[in-house]
Amino acid sequence: MDQSASNSFLLPIVDAVPISTKHVKVTVVGIGNVGMACAQTILTQELAEEIALVDVEEKKLKGEMLDLQHAGAFVPRTKITADTDYAISAGSDICIVTAGARQREGESRLSLLERNVSIYKSIIPRLVEYSPDTILLIVSNPVDILSYLAWKISGLPPNRVIGSGTNLDSSRFRFLLAERLNVHVQNVSANIIGEHGDSSVPMWSSVTVGGIPLNNFLDKNINGFEMQSLRDIHTAVVNGAYEVIRLKGYTSWAIGYSTANLTRTLLKNQQRIHPVSVYAKGLYGIEEDVFLSLPVQLGRSGVQGMVNAPLAEEEKNQLQVSAQALWQAQQGLSL
Ligand SMILES: NC(=O)c1ccc[n+]([C@@H]2O[C@H](COP(=O)([O-])OP(=O)(O)OC[C@H]3O[C@@H](n4cnc5c(N)ncnc54)[C@H](O)[C@@H]3O)[C@@H](O)[C@H]2O)c1
Ligand SMILES: *[C@@H]1O[C@H](CO)[C@@H](O)[C@H](O)[C@H]1NC(C)=O
Ligand SMILES: *[C@@H]1O[C@H](CO)[C@@H](O)[C@H](O)[C@H]1NC(C)=O
Ligand SMILES: *[C@@H]1O[C@H](CO)[C@@H](O)[C@H](O)[C@H]1NC(C)=O
Repeated sequence: MDQSASNSFLLPIVDAVPISTKHVKVTVVGIGNVGMACAQTILTQELAEEIALVDVEEKKLKGEMLDLQHAGAFVPRTKITADTDYAISAGSDICIVTAGARQREGESRLSLLERNVSIYKSIIPRLVEYSPDTILLIVSNPVDILSYLAWKISGLPPNRVIGSGTNLDSSRFRFLLAERLNVHVQNVSANIIGEHGDSSVPMWSSVTVGGIPLNNFLDKNINGFEMQSLRDIHTAVVNGAYEVIRLKGYTSWAIGYSTANLTRTLLKNQQRIHPVSVYAKGLYGIEEDVFLSLPVQLGRSGVQGMVNAPLAEEEKNQLQVSAQALWQAQQGLSL
């Protein structure tokens, strides 16, 4: 053993051959309430070896980085880095974007949207420059429009740009249906598709409870399964985010878990089906160049398949209305 090594805490094993292991890295851009909820859920669920944080607020970045690093004794071993410089994001498998502008006093919705668009124009090219093989997971609102924009700017194939979309709305939907029917939420299979927001579309025709199609219960007039009161649940889903924001000022935990859930499916190549925002032109009679949520199969290369769902006529119509509303909103923007 040579002299210098005996001064080290770890003594080297001379013939240990390094085995190359894939270092899984996730970058989170925007470290507000949502970005930090995503980062900490991904951290505790042991999904990445490295989490890089990026924001424009240098002080806050350092504070959040240190705070997570100080949890090191209690969480899976994960390298936490942070910088305003996108070089820190290099080689990311997934980049989660939650950055956005705060509404100024008296500012119009359109002006706010334009500012959000210009923030994306500054973020997306730099992410792709440092991680050309990344999957972009878009969370900022309006998520469908910003996912479309991110796809356009990034030059990535459409399968590698995904908006968190109605993955969260669907979880709220399942939770409320399960409460109403007094069954375990995991026994309610139900999806919301379309725009994340007001024009979202509940897929009533494919709701199952305990594996049994909802229609069976409706036909038999079983208590709790009346169509009108079930429809009210969709209204409650749409109002859900507003309600949380009214009460606590922002939403964070549910979107954090929803994003971590998508991240797991993608990184572990699980081929699970999730309702997320994807390039939708040509599907279900949608003719516009838009992103909106549809049930798709996700894996390590991003969107790997589209579910060819037998939608009811009404659902198909609502989906097309959702697509037109999004397309309209995109027209006024300097994309
Ligand atoms: N898709 C969903 O289901 C869903 C759910 C909840 C929230 N959201 C959206 O997530 C976004 C974030 O919400 P929040 O509560 O965390 O907001 P926030 O204001 O707390 O955080 C936004 C962060 O973005 C940062 N930022 C601003 N400009 C930036 C830039 N150019 N580059 C990098 N970072 C920049 C800000 O410094 C701030 O830290 C919002 O758009 C919100 O509507 C989406
Ligand atoms: C703009 O971004 C903010 C913060 O990310 C978000 O809350 C808001 O909904 C967005 N609004 C528009 C109109 O783009
Ligand atoms: C209900 O959910 C539980 C937990 O996920 C599962 O084990 C069970 O098989 C489900 N039952 C039916 C009938 O789907
Ligand atoms: C992810 O979400 C699905 C439902 O959409 C659920 O069945 C699954 O258990 C979740 N996985 C984890 C690890 O949370």
